[in-house]
Amino acid sequence: MDVSQLMFRPGLMEGERILVTGGGTGLGREMAEAFLKLGATVYICGRRQGKLDETAQELMAQHGGKVVPMTCDIRDADAIHAMIDAIWADGGALTGVVNNAAGNFISRTEDLSVNGFNAIADIVFRGTFYVTLDVGKRIKAEGGRCNFLAILTTWVWNGSAFVVPSAMSKSAINTMTQSLAVEWGRYNMRFNAIAPGLFPTKGMSARLSPGGRGGNSNNEINPMGRHGEMHELANLAVFLMGPGAEYVNGQTIAIDGAGYQATGGTFWAPLHALGDAEWDQMRAMIKGTNEK
Ligand code: HXC
Repeated sequence: MDVSQLMFRPGLMEGERILVTGGGTGLGREMAEAFLKLGATVYICGRRQGKLDETAQELMAQHGGKVVPMTCDIRDADAIHAMIDAIWADGGALTGVVNNAAGNFISRTEDLSVNGFNAIADIVFRGTFYVTLDVGKRIKAEGGRCNFLAILTTWVWNGSAFVVPSAMSKSAINTMTQSLAVEWGRYNMRFNAIAPGLFPTKGMSARLSPGGRGGNSNNEINPMGRHGEMHELANLAVFLMGPGAEYVNGQTIAIDGAGYQATGGTFWAPLHALGDAEWDQMRAMIKGTNEK
């Protein structure tokens, strides 16, 4: 990301202590970079220690400050508890959590096994709740403050063909955002969400557009004629997580150039034309990817 495109003043996020789940790669890394650049201490978690270490080193070399890599699979509530303990021990309470970690692949729903469904739901639906619960209980007990930001997608409103476990899980987190905004708002916790349209990353392209097929390009139908740029997402994340937006609570903000709404939420429509052999081929490509 070109950090000169951040719209906020230097030092805006000094004193903030933010956990970004899935912060080693993709959108999570971009948001972590923006928070760091603006003065926050950032914790990034994910499943691959090597990738997290590399990201932390690169970001600190570029911007200074403190990025702490934490290996944690958010499907494991005990591992989350241990990670949050370690963060608290490292310098006190978190002031922000970005629930960004996700998993997704395109598939005909009739081709999904129970394990396939759970592979997505355990990360997005259950894992996001586990992280939120662990941090939220501490903040309530200790009397601190915390901003929670969930990274969703625009299909939380219309659903989406071919990504049903993701659509269901992310819709649930949208509901969690609204619910906890009301229940825990009085404890100085805010809950907001961003619903991005297409912001291509390697992991997303490998699983949602294998071999260039699928819905990974809606540039022709998007009113802006392009996909999103990372600094645009990062600016919105900083606004929602930073000081000055304290009265924004329980909101989910789309950032998609209006393309998804304009097309009725059907940018996977070309997938209806594919036959069994093509789905077999795409499944093999998705399973063969190492991108996270
Ligand atoms: C059918 C599939 C499949 C496929 C996996 N499975 N891929 N089924 N079609 N293409 C099934 C497997 O057969 C298995 O079920 C079960 O899912 C678990 O598979 P594993 O590979 O063992 O799972 P695991 O190693 O835990 O990997 C998790 C994952 C993987 C979610 C499947 O994709 C991952 O690690 N993703 C993380 C990164 C990511 O997905 N990034 C993209 C996020 S984009 P059986 O029955 O065989 O045991 C996003 C929003 C996009 O979230 C928004 C766009 C607008």
